[in-house]
Amino acid sequence: MPSLPAVASARMHLLPPYIFGELNRIKAEKCAAGIDVIDFAMGNPVDPTPGFVIDELCRAARDPQNHRYSVANGIPELRREAAALYARRYGVKLDPETEVIASIGSKEGFSHLCLATLGAGDVVLTPTPAFPIHRYSPMIAGATVVGLAAGEGSDREVQERLLESIDRTCRAMTPRPKMVIVCSPHNPTARVFDRDFYPGLIGLARTHGFAVVHDFAYAQTAFDGFKPPSILEFDGAREVACEFWTMSKPYNMAGWRAGFCMGNRDMIGLLKSIKGYFDYGLFAGTERAAIAALRDGDAAAAEQAALYQRRRDVLCKGLLELGWEVSPPKGGMFVWAKVPAKYRGMGTMAFCKLLMDKAAVNAAPGVAFGEDGENFMRLALIESEERIATAIARMREGLAK
Ligand SMILES: Cc1ncc(COP(=O)(O)O)c(C=O)c1O
Repeated sequence: MPSLPAVASARMHLLPPYIFGELNRIKAEKCAAGIDVIDFAMGNPVDPTPGFVIDELCRAARDPQNHRYSVANGIPELRREAAALYARRYGVKLDPETEVIASIGSKEGFSHLCLATLGAGDVVLTPTPAFPIHRYSPMIAGATVVGLAAGEGSDREVQERLLESIDRTCRAMTPRPKMVIVCSPHNPTARVFDRDFYPGLIGLARTHGFAVVHDFAYAQTAFDGFKPPSILEFDGAREVACEFWTMSKPYNMAGWRAGFCMGNRDMIGLLKSIKGYFDYGLFAGTERAAIAALRDGDAAAAEQAALYQRRRDVLCKGLLELGWEVSPPKGGMFVWAKVPAKYRGMGTMAFCKLLMDKAAVNAAPGVAFGEDGENFMRLALIESEERIATAIARMREGLAK
């Protein structure tokens, strides 16, 4: 742990050093030396936002009505449009006043929801390996996080194992866990839950009295005809669960910072209260553009998912040929692959450096998402099909030496 300045709060000591720092330094050195690094490390969308969304932002930016502070929970038209998308896509009818709130990206909403609902003495369960904020936002809020090892196997096996371990852990713990955080399609493991998972989870939430937060960032990023279910489609969900939804991935609006939380009124109300203290909401121009994306962006989101699917196919085929263990994911923007047996002993961080050195390929070490991510690598589908094929060729040649 690096030493922190004396002014640091106690909670800053909970946060580990940034694991990508060393890899970013190596990447910067290579780039400075004129080497073309093919970069799969971060799930940062690289494709452009649809033109009609940009046009709406430009129009809205010129309207002085949009220059003042907006509202912390999102303008009513935006919340209505998000509710309309849920009605159209999932058959879920939400009250835009009490069951929908806009956030400055789902990460902001999630972090502030943790602050509004969790504190010292509270216990949160989340599957591991985990997206870092699923672990650290509850910890920053003062809660204790218990990781449930998702383990290996098919998506179906993992979801059954997770339901069993949530049940077992709740029975064994006093005080009982207050919240369970799940995510599908999942970052980093690319696993998806099917329609059998959610009724089981809602049932456990009722039995053991915990709240559920479903991170649905990859709601519209799914392949081969699979449609990831919203937890809100299932009976009783609204009594126990809320769901985070983002503009970042389906419409390539990551830098615009717009997302939503939907579902349980108490959780939405608490998030609204705390956001009233922290911020004034999004830029109203972004809100207007987000309305256009939600209303008219279904085709754009489907095209984006099809592009990720093609990249997935090239990457998985190439990795399989190189001897990696990987099953093509049904959704999300990552491939989670087990490194070939002969490199497993060295640790994924060392393997990442080897890949950079020998092939100028950058990927995220599984250990960045928890100890049980060791021996796995996360590769984001953000390079073109041609560059993915080049990366595979470089890895074949570079690692053979
Ligand atoms: C699972 C998951 N949740 C949330 C986020 C953050 O999304 P947003 O841009 O809406 O803050 C990401 C971004 O990579 C993610 O992978």
